[in-house]
Amino acid sequence: MNIDQPLALLGGLTPSQFMKRHWQKKPLLVRQAIPDFKPCLDRAALVALAGQDDVESRLIVSSDKGWKMKHGPLPKRSLPPFSQKDWTFLVQGVDLHHDGVHALLQLFRFVPDARLDDLMISYATDGGGVGPHFDSYDVFLLQAHGQRRWRIGRQKDLSLQPGVPLKILQSFEPEEEFVLNPGDMLYLPPKYAHDGVAQGECMTWSIGFRSPQQGELARELLLGLADEAPDSVGEQVYRDPTQPAVAQPGAIPAELVTFARESLQKALKNPHLLDSLLGEYLTEPKAKVWFELGQEAGDLSAGVVLDRRTRMMYDERHIFINGESFRVSGRDARLLRTLADTRTLDAQQIKALSEDALAALDEWQADGWLKTL
Ligand code: SIN
Ligand code: CO
Repeated sequence: MNIDQPLALLGGLTPSQFMKRHWQKKPLLVRQAIPDFKPCLDRAALVALAGQDDVESRLIVSSDKGWKMKHGPLPKRSLPPFSQKDWTFLVQGVDLHHDGVHALLQLFRFVPDARLDDLMISYATDGGGVGPHFDSYDVFLLQAHGQRRWRIGRQKDLSLQPGVPLKILQSFEPEEEFVLNPGDMLYLPPKYAHDGVAQGECMTWSIGFRSPQQGELARELLLGLADEAPDSVGEQVYRDPTQPAVAQPGAIPAELVTFARESLQKALKNPHLLDSLLGEYLTEPKAKVWFELGQEAGDLSAGVVLDRRTRMMYDERHIFINGESFRVSGRDARLLRTLADTRTLDAQQIKALSEDALAALDEWQADGWLKTL
């Protein structure tokens, strides 16, 4: 993607300008971000997805009695009639299940894949919504069908209503209001309060991001380091030839504390190990993602394209794909990085790969991670 080309998607800003001025900083309303947008998935298709048990979905109904929420799977018969007002259902990760939706998500790859999460779709009847709230992550809210009225504000007081099954702000103070039509889009940075209410039946597509939480990331990396520790730290045994006789045998020797600290430092010292654990973690497929195994061995020579569920990234030394890492260098590294960036390789690029890289591609095809062209 040319990051210096003005895009209608970003209201005429280039991706570089958008990232500098708005990303994680301030909202952006874009009228006709995708002119004449026609969603490639209709209400019936979304209802069908919400009924699947490998798809994450929620039903939210509001009434005088308050908010009610139910987690999916949501068979059609469990949904209120579409003639009833004030309800919505939301389907997470639609990009994993639909090629057209996956294709739309690719428009947002001016943000690193490591930050891109998924595309969620909500469908609401008149008055439906999830209530005033804030999200911890950036989001692009693309209006796909019908109209939605958004009220937004920089909310200082983030306290939530108690005893409600969803996160609803206790005292929402909107500052701006817009009605979005199909093709219009609103970008909101993390923690920006918002409330979107359907005006008639409405479908909204949310392009969502993920941000690792430091404690959670440390936990994941430490689990990986723990598995590797016997090899990466070694078998040195604690020795204490200068240990004097003790009158207080219960006290732990200071040297043993130092030895323990040093063994941990050794485990953390290998930067390449940390890098590969991070890449493996970031490309781990989401829960409930299944690849179609046992594909008939196709001919790679015409080119390949990554399956929409595949996550592929790289760093200076490694290629990461669906939670696995490979050390690569030279021409193979260049080509496999191109595969990660463009999600495809053509016949000529395939021809330039080494035997080893081709064998890996064969295996990825058998695993359902990529397809032949
Ligand atoms: C919705 O589509 O109803 C909710 C999206 C959001 O507020 O993040
Ligand atoms: Co939100």
